[in-house]
Amino acid sequence: MRTDTGQVFRLEDYGPSDYLIPETDLTFQLDSADTRVEARLTVERRDGVAADRPLILDGDGLTLESLLVNGAPVAESDYEATADRLVLRSTPPAKRFELTLVTRTDPSANKALMGLYVSNGVFCTQCEAEGFRRITYFLDRPDVLSVYRVCLEADRKTAPLLLSNGNPTDSGELEHGRHFAVWHDPHPKPSYLFALVAGDLGAVHDTFTTASGRDVTLAIYVEHGKEARATYAMDALKRSMRWDEERFGREYDLDVFNIVAVSDFNMGAMENKGLNIFNDKYVLADPETATDMDFANIEAIIAHEYFHNWTGNRITCRDWFQLCLKEGLTVYRDHEFSADQRSRAVKRIAEVRTLRAHQFPEDQGPLAHPVRPRRYREINNFYTATVYEKGSEVVRMIRTLLGADKFRAGMDLYFERHDGQAVTIEDFVRCFEEVSGADLAQFALWYHQAGTPNITASGRYNGRAREFTLEIEQSVPPTPSEARKRLMHIPLAFGLVGSNGEDMTFDGADGATVEDGVIHVRKRKHVIRFKGIGARPVVSLNRGFSAPVTLSLEASAEDRMFLARHDNDLFSRWQALNTLFTEALIEATQRIRGGKEAAFPDELLAYPAEIASDETLGAAYRAQALTLPAEADIAREIGSSIDPDAIHAAISGLREAIGSQCAGTFGELHEALDSGETFTPDAASAGRRALRNVLLDYLSAGTGTPEHATRQFETADNMTAMAAALAVLAHQFPHSPQTAQALAQFEERYRGNPLVLDKWFMVQATTPGPDAVERVRGLMAHEAFSLANPNRVRALIGTFASANQTGFHRADGEGYRFLAETVLAIEKDNPQLAARLAIAFRSWRSLEKKRQEHAREALATISQAKELSRDLRDIVERTLA
Ligand code: ARG
Ligand code: ZN
Repeated sequence: MRTDTGQVFRLEDYGPSDYLIPETDLTFQLDSADTRVEARLTVERRDGVAADRPLILDGDGLTLESLLVNGAPVAESDYEATADRLVLRSTPPAKRFELTLVTRTDPSANKALMGLYVSNGVFCTQCEAEGFRRITYFLDRPDVLSVYRVCLEADRKTAPLLLSNGNPTDSGELEHGRHFAVWHDPHPKPSYLFALVAGDLGAVHDTFTTASGRDVTLAIYVEHGKEARATYAMDALKRSMRWDEERFGREYDLDVFNIVAVSDFNMGAMENKGLNIFNDKYVLADPETATDMDFANIEAIIAHEYFHNWTGNRITCRDWFQLCLKEGLTVYRDHEFSADQRSRAVKRIAEVRTLRAHQFPEDQGPLAHPVRPRRYREINNFYTATVYEKGSEVVRMIRTLLGADKFRAGMDLYFERHDGQAVTIEDFVRCFEEVSGADLAQFALWYHQAGTPNITASGRYNGRAREFTLEIEQSVPPTPSEARKRLMHIPLAFGLVGSNGEDMTFDGADGATVEDGVIHVRKRKHVIRFKGIGARPVVSLNRGFSAPVTLSLEASAEDRMFLARHDNDLFSRWQALNTLFTEALIEATQRIRGGKEAAFPDELLAYPAEIASDETLGAAYRAQALTLPAEADIAREIGSSIDPDAIHAAISGLREAIGSQCAGTFGELHEALDSGETFTPDAASAGRRALRNVLLDYLSAGTGTPEHATRQFETADNMTAMAAALAVLAHQFPHSPQTAQALAQFEERYRGNPLVLDKWFMVQATTPGPDAVERVRGLMAHEAFSLANPNRVRALIGTFASANQTGFHRADGEGYRFLAETVLAIEKDNPQLAARLAIAFRSWRSLEKKRQEHAREALATISQAKELSRDLRDIVERTLA
């Protein structure tokens, strides 16, 4: 375990390395307990660097077995090798020389899942961000690009499959039942994109012909017997490859493209050049075992990793501060892909829900950091919602500012100018400035300044002057180490909606730049006068969520309901209704805390029936509209002195009230949607299932009986329907015999399928109420559970801490103590996973007093533990600061 040294890395300290490694030749003698790695590195001194400058290579937990420079041994006094670095005090006079290093590692002992490890008997690697230095000493930084030749040697019986990056060039037999394969990757790449896989796996094969007519051999490797569950992923891959050609003009560039699914993986997946390695959760799917959400995630993540081939691999990051250069941009690209494959409005709503659920609390709490951070102690802690999701929003705003054509021109210039380079956010933004002539200096603050901007707005209509005045003010709240903020450039898409539901036209506007349906907010306050307006409009602001801000728009409930019914922007219709639900739930929460009963406006209880049966809207959209804000959404909106129990009661109250008011319509529709059609994972069918499941939730709450859910559970012929029914049973009727029976049946049926059993863990981890902590503790003893497997940990512990508000935030602090203790147990083996779990504490200061105290104590227990990893110490100290 890499313990904390207190070292902080700063963007302003960046300097190019003295040496480069243009060629890397690796030979692995794979053995699960003792693998020998021989690295032959062609090292090149950079121009102007003196030969007496030491060559300092990164390592992490390595032991050096031998070292040669230009084939000759090095005197002991000329180098120093420790676990975490190799220093060659001076180098040969010639500019280029060769370094040969031998190191040994024990992959089966690698529980951190970084570097070379074994998952279910399969050798695999994860090198981003700094895992390569756990394999051999190297200039393990993204601006050192090298051409790799990799030779893998292994036992033929246990590892018939030998994969690495690039194209296969040679293979053959060796003595003692061993064999070898050689791979060559012609594209220079940073070490974090290195990968190898060796093991015995099954496969689905396919081919793809690129736009220019090159044939690419495709394969997805999975455990034997699971091949059929990889066909959807293969289909998604081919669609991704075609889409990147059509939308961005980007073709694939090797003869083969391989994907391998492994069952122990810290993250979702990894874009290693030509050899993507995936968490099997994001590859394996069939109707019986995967939900529509699983299918959609697979499609998105397959696309994401594939798109990295250009945004990340061909053009990579100069340093890790630039992580958003590849991640924000690639998320933007996968969002666009999914939007094109499915319903754009529904996709946008889902994106915004995710952004608000994960990025807003980060931005509003102690872990806030800019999309492009300026300092870090542990880079693994910066694979965050801010870098990924807000990073994507920033790219999306560039498109809004420039329009589709100039955005594409800017991307084309970026690909053309920087192909083969390791670059910065400034390089990226400059491409868009050059093609458009726009000055993006103020806009670029979105990369450099943390915090979610807040917009307040109000409108006034003057009939005599035929003028509508809109006042808009921006403010950016202070965040850790950034007390004072600069004014941002915020593009707000908008419409002035007339009484017929159509957008009104106007004869010009002053007070701000208003162009193509977008108000450009650049000052603290704008008073915008729209002229030639014949009747009072209802203003629709931040359409399509054009800017990732919080918005308080002064409006009556009637105006919001009007927008919910008539706005021509589907996102804004959803937003208007969601705002009405949110306002009603905040009020109900206050009433409940004051000892009163919750009460809800009549129209809000009646409208759901109307929208549920509105055939002009897609089923998926209706499902989104009917989905109430989550408990965490209401907590975030309330912002301080939060009592999760009151919020839970308010939401349950609203669900029940809507459920009984709309029972007739919902019941008929729920019935009608059970068409008996055979399952297909396409968006339209998924939408019908989503709607049906939302209705089930309401119906069950309205009737207060588990009957509907029990019936859906028993008759379900796909996992989407079954898992949803199980969730309704467990969450609404935790103590009913039907629930106990359904849980037992599910466990019995899917005992042998860990990914499906994760759903069973999740449903119980998120069952509300004070007994959740004990339930989760109990489940940790289940035979299928293991603290060593990240998917199991996230399903049980992760969802408990992040998605069970009443359980985790139990008033006596037991949820916090449980998490602290579990995090400490996990970090011994897997610091990265532990640090991830600990971010569940990040909003602790917004809780009511007593809970705050309990959370602080739990955090203190972690921070006082001896020998904390760099990962966990960084998170805990920033959270407490
Ligand atoms: N680059 C991967 C992606 O596609 C994520 C890898 C993150 N790995 C890590 N150890 N932090 O988003
Ligand atoms: Zn990525």
